[in-house]
Amino acid sequence: MRIVSGMRPTGKLHIGHYVGVLKKWLELAQEHESLFFVADWHALSTSYEEKLNLEELSLELIRTWMAVGIDPEKSLLFIQSAIKEHAELYLLLNMITPIGWLERNPTYKDQLEQIKHKEIHTAGFLTYPVLQTADIVLYEAEGVPIGEDQRPHLEIAREIVRRFHHLFGCKERPIFKEPQEILSPTPRLLGIDGRKMSKSYGNAIYLDEEPESIWQKVRAAKTDPQRIRKNDPGNPEVCVVYGYHKAFSDPATIAQVEEGCRSGTIGCVECKRWCAAAIDETLAPIREKRERIGSKLLQEVVAQGNAQARKLAQAKMEEVNSTVLGATQ
Ligand code: TRP
Ligand code: SF4
Repeated sequence: MRIVSGMRPTGKLHIGHYVGVLKKWLELAQEHESLFFVADWHALSTSYEEKLNLEELSLELIRTWMAVGIDPEKSLLFIQSAIKEHAELYLLLNMITPIGWLERNPTYKDQLEQIKHKEIHTAGFLTYPVLQTADIVLYEAEGVPIGEDQRPHLEIAREIVRRFHHLFGCKERPIFKEPQEILSPTPRLLGIDGRKMSKSYGNAIYLDEEPESIWQKVRAAKTDPQRIRKNDPGNPEVCVVYGYHKAFSDPATIAQVEEGCRSGTIGCVECKRWCAAAIDETLAPIREKRERIGSKLLQEVVAQGNAQARKLAQAKMEEVNSTVLGATQ
């Protein structure tokens, strides 16, 4: 199975990205052919007014992927905007995508509701899923690891594929594959304040966080409000720290936390110390590896990945263009 997935370069990654997305990528990359790319054009769809420094953010994102263990020898790593075929296919797919499909997209509607501080009533934002479809079908992806919010985009991708085959007469010899979604089972980690972990809420623990700062954040994290004194029995299920334990601690520690919290035999401070230590145990090697990935290596990886991806994309676009032109005869 060929795996393709992308990530927008909007800033530093946090432990929620690691647990929810990157661990899944790592697991899939072990068993399948995989392509991972920086969706820098997608970042522009909502952030065209911001000084993001996309070039640097894109390289930093790939550095982070490599630091967590994505191996550029095994996976193809590249940058969307370096492969112009994404734009070419996006253009063609836009010709046949009914606006109604895009306007009815629940993720689109949610974002219009939520994002009030930016003007996102743009053609680029409406057609975001069309670009995403191009990203996917250009490489004949079979499996696409995504989060829950991206499911409607995969549905649109499959619909566009079917419509393309129907309109351009390639039902017998389909030129695209209908991509399947691969949903991460792990629920996303909450931020230290109990809301969704997000850079904009200031409640995230970042992948490059130093030990002292991990401790300060975990120490400040929201716990079960019923536990006022040390021996008050608590419910770990309502505590964000327990969520971190489940993601980073060993089974024995998790069991001890669960038991000790419910019976009121461990204090929150002690529990948080174990938690910060477990998080640092995962992050320390990532921080160290990150330091060792120099700019030169990074540039080389990206140049190679781009070149290989471009080859695949160009071959596919030749096929696509001759199919489309052929259908107009
Ligand atoms: N839209 C995805 C997100 O925000 C990023 C993305 C762009 C993507 N193109 C993709 C993911 C293709 C999977 C496949 O998470
Ligand atoms: Fe949370 Fe641990 Fe305190 Fe229980 S003991 S409320 S799991 S911090």
